[in-house]
Amino acid sequence: MDEPEYTAEEWDRALTAAEATELDRVAEAGIRPGKLDDVIGQNRVREQIGLLLEGARRRGAAPDHLLLSGPPGLGKTTLAMIVAAELGVGLRQTSGPAIERSGDLAAILTGLGPGEVLFIDEIHRMARPAEELLYTAMEDFRVDVVVGKGPGATAIPLELEPFTLVGATTRAGLLTGPLRDRFGFLGQLEFYEQADLEAIVERSAGILEVEVTGPGAVEIASRSRGTPRVANRLLRRVRDFAQVRADGVIDARVAADALALYDVDERGLDRLDRAVLSALVKTFGGGPVGLTTLAVAVGEQSDTVEEVCEPYLVRAGLLARTPRGRVGTADAWRHLGLEPPPTEGLFGGGGA
Ligand SMILES: Nc1ncnc2c1ncn2[C@@H]1O[C@H](COP(=O)(O)OP(=O)(O)O)[C@@H](O)[C@H]1O
Ligand SMILES: [Mg+2]
Repeated sequence: MDEPEYTAEEWDRALTAAEATELDRVAEAGIRPGKLDDVIGQNRVREQIGLLLEGARRRGAAPDHLLLSGPPGLGKTTLAMIVAAELGVGLRQTSGPAIERSGDLAAILTGLGPGEVLFIDEIHRMARPAEELLYTAMEDFRVDVVVGKGPGATAIPLELEPFTLVGATTRAGLLTGPLRDRFGFLGQLEFYEQADLEAIVERSAGILEVEVTGPGAVEIASRSRGTPRVANRLLRRVRDFAQVRADGVIDARVAADALALYDVDERGLDRLDRAVLSALVKTFGGGPVGLTTLAVAVGEQSDTVEEVCEPYLVRAGLLARTPRGRVGTADAWRHLGLEPPPTEGLFGGGGA
């Protein structure tokens, strides 16, 4: 197959969920866990999905529709694929932005075989008419296809095979109530614990056939922003470095040197994360500053800053979202090697 090649620069910019998914499809084939038992961490959601699938299996029916939400790279697409694989049924994949007209969605839905899984990525970006078509499809396994225009238009009901919808979103809050209510299961994916990321690095290294020492895995895991996709991406970069500049084994030293070369700092922040912090702290004096202004300052789309950078910066305690705008914490100043201003009411260090 003719696979496109991506430069390191393109990898860095592969920040939107759609782009990252496309790049992963190429580079992560083989690394992506294929069954529920191979999924590392995320214990709660994994157990919940396991029960859902087992219950459906015993009843011999299609399981409830599932909505998976969380920042990019935490395993939403992986879990969607696993749902189909565990059920032993076909998977049809599309995404919210790809469905331009409700007719596109009707064609996909009527083409589904019995019990198949339909995966709609970025489901919060689906056009409203398509979303409305989805309501009856999800609830009654039926779509009403409108034929003709104007007063002569008629709706022809079409029966669908029972199917399971898996929706994924980085922004569960943007889903409309009626859509959200039609999912029987809402799974919120969380950033991964250090130990889980280490296990992911070790598992992937095994598949990539590169040797990594325990401390080497720790080094990569601790810079992975709590995100398996990042862990795998860093592992591939470090592998190149180990093979070209060292003896092929990834130890702590090789990992640290390689990641320094690729501009990934000790906390795993990449260039865009640091640009956001730096603008927040240096240009806007720590904030509060509006999201749009902040995004313009770093030359990125607001969505990217909000969905890709901020969740981790918030979780790392470097940035806070307040009603008046984004605020850099005292730790953000220190991370950039600066002294936080003394009058920082909200986050000032010292006193309890
Ligand atoms: N729980 C996990 N265990 C091991 N690897 C994982 C896990 N979750 C995700 N990954 C890896 O991370 C990559 C990104 O996951 P993906 O499902 O594409 O994320 P999302 O769809 O949420 O953006 C996958 O290709 C997979 O290799
Ligand atoms: Mg995905």
